[in-house]
Amino acid sequence: MIVIYDSLTGQTKRFAQSLGLEAISISEFNFNRDDEILLATRSHGFGKIPDTTLNFLKVWHKKVVGVVVSGNRNWGANYGAAGDKIQEQFKIPLIIKFEGPGFLEDRQYVINWINKYKEDKLND
Ligand SMILES: Cc1cc2nc3c(=O)[nH]c(=O)nc-3n(C[C@H](O)[C@H](O)[C@H](O)COP(=O)(O)O)c2cc1C
Repeated sequence: MIVIYDSLTGQTKRFAQSLGLEAISISEFNFNRDDEILLATRSHGFGKIPDTTLNFLKVWHKKVVGVVVSGNRNWGANYGAAGDKIQEQFKIPLIIKFEGPGFLEDRQYVINWINKYKEDKLND
């Protein structure tokens, strides 16, 4: 599994790089790779999915096993709303919404999710 991140100001990138997996910018993704993808993205402009993420998902959504989304609670009902929209539109599980670069417990939660996903796959 690899992490693909879409980050404008670096918060999502920091989170993506803390998960113990190879982390690659969405703009540098090598489309020949066969790995499963954990997508790390952000909310923009009233809970929108960033265009870069949307364009990526239109092509690669089948490889994406989960999504984590950075946001800011100041946006109220739109907090991390890109994650809800991705889950609804592409049927990709939303693992977590986190603020800025995330807290340690947010990162640990996602690391546990990754480990459980891998374990479940081995036991299939
Ligand atoms: C123009 C603008 C719009 C934003 N809209 C939202 C939003 O609708 N919901 C939300 O939760 N956060 C919103 N944010 C906050 C960002 O998602 C948050 O700062 C995030 O950590 C940025 O990630 P990045 O540093 O990886 O680009 C917005 C930020 C900006 C600058």
